[in-house]
Amino acid sequence: MFVNTLQYLVCPDCESTDLKLHSEQTLKGDVKSGRVICSTCTESFPIHDGVLIWLTNPDQYLRAHVTEREDHIEHIDESLESDRVTALYWLGHYVSAKELLSANPKLSATLKTLVKKYWDQGPMQTLAKLFKQKKLSGSMLELGCGSGGLAHLLGSNLDSYLGIDSAYQGVKRARDILITKKNIYNAPSDLVQGPLANKITAKSKTKPPLDCDFIVVDIEIGGLKKNHWDMVAAFNVIDMLEEPSQLFKLKQFLLKSSGIAVSSSPYIWHPETAKQLKPKKNESSQDRMVRMSREAGFGKIAFEIRDIPWLFFKNINQLEIYNVHLLGVRN
Ligand SMILES: C[S@@+](CC[C@H](N)C(=O)[O-])C[C@H]1O[C@@H](n2cnc3c(N)ncnc32)[C@H](O)[C@@H]1O
Ligand SMILES: [Zn+2]
Repeated sequence: MFVNTLQYLVCPDCESTDLKLHSEQTLKGDVKSGRVICSTCTESFPIHDGVLIWLTNPDQYLRAHVTEREDHIEHIDESLESDRVTALYWLGHYVSAKELLSANPKLSATLKTLVKKYWDQGPMQTLAKLFKQKKLSGSMLELGCGSGGLAHLLGSNLDSYLGIDSAYQGVKRARDILITKKNIYNAPSDLVQGPLANKITAKSKTKPPLDCDFIVVDIEIGGLKKNHWDMVAAFNVIDMLEEPSQLFKLKQFLLKSSGIAVSSSPYIWHPETAKQLKPKKNESSQDRMVRMSREAGFGKIAFEIRDIPWLFFKNINQLEIYNVHLLGVRN
């Protein structure tokens, strides 16, 4: 965690901004171990391997999610499936079509065609193009940042970037790839040992934003300052929340008055969530998203791109294609 990140935080327990950083080990301004202590309620939040755990009951979270080996925390006690999903996500964000195809000459002709045509054209790449076209810049907060693909793709187009996620594993990977540049992650073994024979490691090819950090925060708990960001983004997150409309309300709370809420979703609504969303007759997912944003006070559409193909490799013979929408709204 960078010292600079403290300015964006409020205590997740009592919302105080009277926070003190106690650093035990710092490398080039990045606190590798230490604690942030709230002077008001005295709660203490650990920083492990550079990752700040900014949650209520932070020590309990560490015990549940991170296993200690000797004196070093290096393994995250989550299921293998989740490990695989995280690896597949970074494959999509950090490996280009060209790299993927050259690493895997035996990919079927059909999949090759799809990869060539659509792999580099996903929603994050589409947003990066829009940034260039519209000369967008400013500060960005990303909710549910996963392994940091958006910060990687937007890079130095942003003045500052903070990524938050409730999963330690994603945050740790994002920091390893973009901040400490360890580049230690490989493609899942069946993609590597099967036809995808060459080893691929995640490398950031772009310069990350100057002021870039990733920390563990739960959207549903909070812990971030109000009205602070030019943009608040969330990609593929809204469909994971029990109350999707809360995400737009939260973005409204976090954004500056003229800020833009950026959203994308493949729209796999849980049936219970879909019921709760109460769509109007024949209302599409995207129209329901726009209405949800209006209900949260966003009156204007800054940009809207429908039907973006988003490819997700499951294994060498299974490539999923989602139909994703990109929406930017403002007050
Ligand atoms: C489908 S993944 C998308 C990750 C990334 N945005 C991307 O598109 O590659 C959803 C992410 O949201 C995170 N997430 C889900 N619920 C969350 C919550 N309550 N608070 C913070 N992050 C959350 C998950 O841990 C996961 O990393
Ligand atoms: Zn406090």
